[in-house]
Amino acid sequence: MRLRVRSKRGAAMAALIAVAIAAPLTANAAPPDADPQPKAAASADDQKIRQYEIHGPSTAADRTKIASSGVSVDEARDHSVVVSATAAQAELLRTQGHKLKALAGPPKRLGGKAAEPRDFPAEDAKYHTYDEMNAAIDEQIKAHPDLISKKVIGKSHEGRDIIAVKLSDKVGEDEAEPEVLFTHHQHAREHLTVEMALYLVKTFGDGYGSDDRVTKMLDEREVWIVPDVNPDGGEYDIKTGEYQSWRLNRQPNEGAATGTDLNRNWAYKWGCCGGSSDEPGSETYRGAEAESAPETKVVADFVRGRVVDGKQQIKAAIDFHTYSELVLWPYGWTTDDTAEGLTQDDRDAHAAIGEKMAESNGYTPQQSSDLYVTDGSIDDWLWGDQKIFAYTFEMYPSSQGGGGFYPPDEVIEKETSRNKDAVLQLLENADCMYRSIGKEEEYCK
Ligand code: ARG
Ligand code: ZN
Repeated sequence: MRLRVRSKRGAAMAALIAVAIAAPLTANAAPPDADPQPKAAASADDQKIRQYEIHGPSTAADRTKIASSGVSVDEARDHSVVVSATAAQAELLRTQGHKLKALAGPPKRLGGKAAEPRDFPAEDAKYHTYDEMNAAIDEQIKAHPDLISKKVIGKSHEGRDIIAVKLSDKVGEDEAEPEVLFTHHQHAREHLTVEMALYLVKTFGDGYGSDDRVTKMLDEREVWIVPDVNPDGGEYDIKTGEYQSWRLNRQPNEGAATGTDLNRNWAYKWGCCGGSSDEPGSETYRGAEAESAPETKVVADFVRGRVVDGKQQIKAAIDFHTYSELVLWPYGWTTDDTAEGLTQDDRDAHAAIGEKMAESNGYTPQQSSDLYVTDGSIDDWLWGDQKIFAYTFEMYPSSQGGGGFYPPDEVIEKETSRNKDAVLQLLENADCMYRSIGKEEEYCK
């Protein structure tokens, strides 16, 4: 067996180096009255993202407050958080009195030789680049042309195709069957979610006719998979052969900071509630207006396009992210369990099926705002605007120590197949999500 590159000693070294790199920031601490987010001279270095651990924050309110400094909250523990931040954002948190501990950066995994530009490091070669993803999907379509098709639903900012893959028996027809949507890779560095999409395409394509549950679902449902919502961000993250910890898309803003957080750009309660940032350069920058990011608009238009005869055909959805091993349901914009457009029954049905899915994959189920408040997220839009039952899955690992955003490619098979049962459960419930709370008669007849 090959030794893992990231040995304990390697991690310790990396942590040491991280501290060494971070130290000068403290030495040059800006005076408290300095502009907390200098906008003028943003250089590439200022935009470099790294992870920090912060002790103290324990509640959703604490975490929402941390997020409001412009960082992304990557991990919530009982009495601490892990955030991703630029040097300026880290400095701002320090001036607010937080102690930040820099964590090890992304693994290099170069195995002695650098990866080709625009590719994963050699030791993570099982991860698919955008081109490799498309090739893998085309191969599956070739193998199962009656079951799988794809269409280009629009283009990213840099002009890459955003595709939707359809899986169903008689895939060429639009049958009157409940539809289910899976979206992947809104956040650039969350590469495992693309592998999740490819796993689903393969498992459903190859399983039809031999796996009873898969067969029944392809006979009775229409499955849509958008395997890569943010192809520009994903390619940017790997383009030097060294991971960039990039989260956003690659759309320029006024000033030097690039990128919009696609999962804060959806057109429901956009920017309403302190769950996103209006500052370009923030890790949760919500964009100049709702759907200002082409990628968000492309997928939103696709979903709106599934309204046939005034009825939304898509009944349920999962948006895949990493990491933390969570099953989340709406709303994110409010910490209340019920709110406008979300009745007690709606909440209970979301929770009942969310909890069942979490039982099968071992993730932790909760309302998304139990983590921290977000506004303009896809799940809130899917439910609030389209009445599609919506979940966010935060995949493997559970913590930064387990590999954070960059788990080694050895885990791909285990951590994607881990969600097979949950995905099937959602499909099986999609014809009447309220059956889960014993209210089929009331809602589904
Ligand atoms: N961690 C992801 C993000 O920051 C998912 C958030 C969960 N969704 C939510 N509405 N709170 O976008
Ligand atoms: Zn994410």
